[in-house]
Amino acid sequence: MNSNFIDNEQNIYQHAPAAEPERQLYFMEKARTLLKARFESMLASGEALNQYGQEMLDKMISRQAYGTFCIQTFGCQMNAKDSEKLAGILESIGFIEVDTETADFVLYNTCTVRENANLRVYGRLGQLGALKKKHPRMMIALCGCMMQEKEVVEKLKKSYRFVDLIFGTHNIYQLAELIYRRLNQKKMVVEVWEGTDKIVENLPAERKYAFKSGVNIMFGCNNFCSYCIVPYVRGRERSRNPEEIIKEVERLAADGVVEVMLLGQNVNSYGKNLEHPISFAELLRQVEQVEGIRRIRFMTSHPKDLSDELIAVMKESKKICPHLHLPLQSGSSRILKVMNRKYTKEQYLELASKIKKEVPGISLTTDIIVGFPGETEEDFLETMDVVEKVGFDSAFTFIYSKRTGTPAAAMENQVPEAVVKDRFDRLLKLVQETGSRVSGREVHTVQEVLVEEINDHDSSLVTGRLGNNTVVHFPGDASLIGTIVKVSLDEFKGFYYMGTMQP
Ligand code: SAH
Ligand code: SF4
Ligand code: F3S
Repeated sequence: MNSNFIDNEQNIYQHAPAAEPERQLYFMEKARTLLKARFESMLASGEALNQYGQEMLDKMISRQAYGTFCIQTFGCQMNAKDSEKLAGILESIGFIEVDTETADFVLYNTCTVRENANLRVYGRLGQLGALKKKHPRMMIALCGCMMQEKEVVEKLKKSYRFVDLIFGTHNIYQLAELIYRRLNQKKMVVEVWEGTDKIVENLPAERKYAFKSGVNIMFGCNNFCSYCIVPYVRGRERSRNPEEIIKEVERLAADGVVEVMLLGQNVNSYGKNLEHPISFAELLRQVEQVEGIRRIRFMTSHPKDLSDELIAVMKESKKICPHLHLPLQSGSSRILKVMNRKYTKEQYLELASKIKKEVPGISLTTDIIVGFPGETEEDFLETMDVVEKVGFDSAFTFIYSKRTGTPAAAMENQVPEAVVKDRFDRLLKLVQETGSRVSGREVHTVQEVLVEEINDHDSSLVTGRLGNNTVVHFPGDASLIGTIVKVSLDEFKGFYYMGTMQP
């Protein structure tokens, strides 16, 4: 950055408000001023035209934007939601979103739940470094779960010197301040916190879809399943106040959102540690009251504390979707104990059949890990047995991945790769068979579908979802996106329907 644009830094920090979100709003403005000055000098020198092209330049000028950004999100719904917040901050600073990595500001929001998630980031980062050589103004930032691991940050500092900014999962709300800091100093900015008890409300967010949105209801996790790194990188469980959640849902509804997905690593323990404790079921009752919201989803439910109250609320509700993602992880009670999951095979089966009985037509989906340390053929067959008995609509199946620092990583009896691969293939086959057997249950009926997008492969079709989350394709156009329409489900194709819209 040209030294002409460097503010009197000390002054700026002295006048910065201490309270949030005011402090970040202040830094958004400061960063925006720097960016604008840079853009104006690029315009004057003709560099801007070279960099952005006429069409983009016109768009930037009309929107008063002074640079471009691109966010790549890895991992789960929490990260997707975080990326929307990060995008909101970047837009407030004066960046405009583009989908290529030649942007002025490129941000990777990373995941570390399994080893291959990390490897992907390093691979992509290498390519990004080459790109930055051609575009030296480019700023590269990394955030998310991977950054909470000390070894990762050490490696980046040593071998990826071209990275400009590194921050973690606890301080994403600080993005404006961190960018400001990077614009004023020549070296890499690293700001990762070990934990936080803070929840900063009321910062801008940019939604990916106009008609549906994730809503965080809690952060972190206290469960410490023995294989899982999430509690280490996302910190202790913290619930948002119900008033803040309801206010956000009301704002979203007023803005045209019809479907909300309530997000937490274990939504069933929502509210337990609030000053005025409330249950997740009670929160759902309150969200149900918000006018304009037509569909409520949530993720993820831990089987150990799924209450009868929740089942009753799902049964009564007109808006809660008949879909429950209930991670099994393993069907062997012995393995479940070592995993620290706190339920047995029998308890899981009983829970699943109770839910199916109480909420007819509900779709159950799950996560399963294959090859946890010490898993024998017998243990694995127990998992297969649960899949048969429950009849999941779909299941995410994962090969166990050793995560440094978790109790399972130090366990003996890691299962040989070839054995794991064989089990994984058998499980996948069974999951697909059961899925295609059970999830076509609504064929030849008329159901409500929320239309989400134009079909990827055939632009004369639109794609939407049933309440139970099954995908439906049918003839239609872009005007239907975001609306709920009645569709006759003519044909079931294994894991999706082909349909026709009804008047
Ligand atoms: N909080 C959610 C899961 C979040 S992680 C829950 O408890 O259900 C998403 C999924 O990744 C988990 O359900 C698990 O199946 C999988 N997973 C987590 N750690 C893993 C590991 N070390 N190896 C393989 N899969 C893992
Ligand atoms: Fe990981 Fe278990 Fe927490 Fe889920 S509940 S995030 S699997 S520790
Ligand atoms: Fe990955 Fe972090 Fe989610 S590790 S799965 S992005 S909470």
